[in-house]
Amino acid sequence: MLDISQTKILQIPGASEKLNSCLKEIYNDFAVSDEKIDQIIKRFHVEMQDGLERDNGLLPMLPSYVTVRPTGKEKGTYLSLDLGGTNLRVCLVTLNGDSTFSIVQQKYTITNEAKADNLFDWIANCVDLFIIENKLVPDAGTTMIPCGFTFSFPIVQSAINRGTLVMWNKGFSVPNVVGRDVAVMTQNAFMRKHLNVKIVAIVNDTIGTLMASGYANPDSQMGIIFGTGTNACYWEKREKILKWNPTEDIAPFDEMILNMEWGAFDVASTTLPYTPHDNKLNRKSINHGLQVFEKMISGLYLGEVIRNALLWLVDRRVLFNGRSSDILNDSYKLDTAYVSSIVADETPNLDDVKLILEVTLSIPDTTLQDRQIVQEVCKIIGLRANRLSAAALCAVLLWRPELLDKEMTIGIDGSMYEFFPGFDKGLIKEMTRILGEERAKNVKLVLAKDGSGVGAAIVAMIASKDLE
Ligand code: BGC
Repeated sequence: MLDISQTKILQIPGASEKLNSCLKEIYNDFAVSDEKIDQIIKRFHVEMQDGLERDNGLLPMLPSYVTVRPTGKEKGTYLSLDLGGTNLRVCLVTLNGDSTFSIVQQKYTITNEAKADNLFDWIANCVDLFIIENKLVPDAGTTMIPCGFTFSFPIVQSAINRGTLVMWNKGFSVPNVVGRDVAVMTQNAFMRKHLNVKIVAIVNDTIGTLMASGYANPDSQMGIIFGTGTNACYWEKREKILKWNPTEDIAPFDEMILNMEWGAFDVASTTLPYTPHDNKLNRKSINHGLQVFEKMISGLYLGEVIRNALLWLVDRRVLFNGRSSDILNDSYKLDTAYVSSIVADETPNLDDVKLILEVTLSIPDTTLQDRQIVQEVCKIIGLRANRLSAAALCAVLLWRPELLDKEMTIGIDGSMYEFFPGFDKGLIKEMTRILGEERAKNVKLVLAKDGSGVGAAIVAMIASKDLE
């Protein structure tokens, strides 16, 4: 299968001088030099330090209130919810106490109405359906089913089961939620529906991923999502969290997982290599000026940056004979899932690319050269996403360089990591370049597929024990 580490940039057979010069411009715009990567890593450290020193710092670096590492020996059955950018998963997770688990789960695609309006009642309805279907009742001697809630948006927590929404992103815009406690709002929706479910913990999806990864590999140090959105969390030492000033009692601890919210990196727009295609996307987005790093690398946006670049080539009359389609003209109509298939196509005539262009974008009669150009642009922009992702990952590893001296695991989840051809290989290649072979060898990247559901169950278990 083709992947983004095998680039054949500027080698389109029979390309005219004009086409070559346009492709060269795209290539130069989206290239990320090694020097740029170094700069990004340095800037990451400045922003991380700022976020550790003060609330509302350059990077949020949000305390998760999770201070206990999983051991793999956890046991019990817990309900968890995982609200991502695209789906809600309701899960019944059984931890077997030997690093393994079993899971019964149901996925519900989040409706546009839920994203813009009645999210919490919609969640309660899904949980109700799941409870009925699986005949769930509270354990003997209890009245409520404990539940861990993975909420994939930035929340400021004041306790393990309290989280105030900082802002919506990934296309959500439910009014009157920013600044309010989403655990309470969900609990209220459960009460309106008379559900016997109690939210005992709320965690970001990166934290769920790290906890799930830690359950299987106790040496896990970092959790990352490369999916619809992107973000990471890691274990930080208590003394480094200078802004720590809890309003409620919490037991003494040595380390805590911090949710970095790295999608917010470079909010001052000083460091990342912005192109006109990124700026166009940013200007038209509902969170203009925010999450600019996320907009360069995550699945929600990658197809849109590529669509902008393709239209730029159409306007220069070097692609599709200068003609677009209503669909291609429409924002967000090039789904990143198709970009993955385009990059992976190795048929001699690029038949898969042809089909995608015809069926999903309504562009018939493409030439082989058109299809080669489209594949090339997808690869160039995918490669940028991959290199920037590796830079962020390495920045966190270099923040705690002592961890690199022994083996460690990073739990990763998300569609970009799982499905974008060569994304994992590209991360390892870049990590080896940046950290050196010896240190990079110690880092194991592990797919923690749908880990946040399991992780939330583990946190629910820890939290319910604390409540007892
Ligand atoms: C959110 C994060 C989340 C990430 C991955 C971002 O848009 O701000 O909280 O972890 O997406 O889902």
